[in-house]
Amino acid sequence: MSQDAIRRVVQVDLGPRSYPIAITTGLDDLPQQLSARLKTRRALVVADANVAPRARSVMERLANAGWRADAEVLPFGESTKSIPALAQLYSALARLPADRYTAVIAIGGGVIGDLAGFAAATFNRGIPLVMMPTTLLAMVDSSVGGKTGINLTEGKNLVGSFHQPSLVYIDLNALETLPGREYRSGFGEIVKYGVILDPDLFSYVEESVPLLLQRDPGAVSRVVGRSCELKAEVVRQDEREETGMRAILNYGHTFAHAFENVLGYGAWLHGEAVSAGMVCAGRLARRLGWVDDEFCNRQERLLERLRLPITPPDVSPDELIAIMKRDKKNREGRTRFILPRRMGEVVLHEGVPESDVRSVLAI
Ligand code: GLY
Repeated sequence: MSQDAIRRVVQVDLGPRSYPIAITTGLDDLPQQLSARLKTRRALVVADANVAPRARSVMERLANAGWRADAEVLPFGESTKSIPALAQLYSALARLPADRYTAVIAIGGGVIGDLAGFAAATFNRGIPLVMMPTTLLAMVDSSVGGKTGINLTEGKNLVGSFHQPSLVYIDLNALETLPGREYRSGFGEIVKYGVILDPDLFSYVEESVPLLLQRDPGAVSRVVGRSCELKAEVVRQDEREETGMRAILNYGHTFAHAFENVLGYGAWLHGEAVSAGMVCAGRLARRLGWVDDEFCNRQERLLERLRLPITPPDVSPDELIAIMKRDKKNREGRTRFILPRRMGEVVLHEGVPESDVRSVLAI
């Protein structure tokens, strides 16, 4: 990315739990942003092995600014979101030793953010958390909004809590080294924000596909900033997913979770599963007469141009439907879908006939 700093700040307004999302290029602002938000110069830096060099740069910056920080570098991948890795972080915090002001600084994608976030949520009954997302997907989704947690062998994200960070620091330069497939997967979530809330964002992505695929700094900064603004507003209105507002962020996800589950986590990246999931949700809404062909074609065309999957995996619809019925977001056994009404508007819907779900999966 360009060396000229791109700076914007998106505020997440949650009363006493409010915090800024600083979007920039480089680490120059980091010490200043941290001292504006924290009452300490002690931290545990948590990173995965893929971003260990970045963690070292952060440690250097912190040391130069008078911080005392330890680092825990964990294996890359979903299996790190586990009880043994969590126990490792608790031990590292205890050894530091961490007090109630010590910060956990999470550097990585959604796995590290969720795991380190849950350690911060629970150690000493809650200590400050700083998110430094390094994947496009984590920048626009998991680093914002305070969801933290780990997986059990029985299922994903079964243990967790809400714990808002004190600061989200997005260094867009981290995207330079992100593998292409991983980068493109982030657009599953960015397109989602357009469909659920912002037709202008959707149009902008449509107009800017070549620039975005080239990782043009101005275009990337614009879509990351707008996605963060939209997520911040949803979280402001429904921090703990109680009113149904925050649930709209799960557009495409009922299908996506089933795809990820049946294929085994990691076979499809999350944003890829969300892409095919949104296509299925769009087609389901079309069967119910809520949207027309033009809506579905437009969504599918854009996802395809971003080189994301637009067909469900080749597995039996029965198997996928059985998994959807077990989704932990269901109420009283009824599968819940977020379905579009038009570009920029979706609703939470229960009670879709199983035959309709089957037919959109059988494409
Ligand atoms: N990723 C969905 C949410 O944060 O609520």
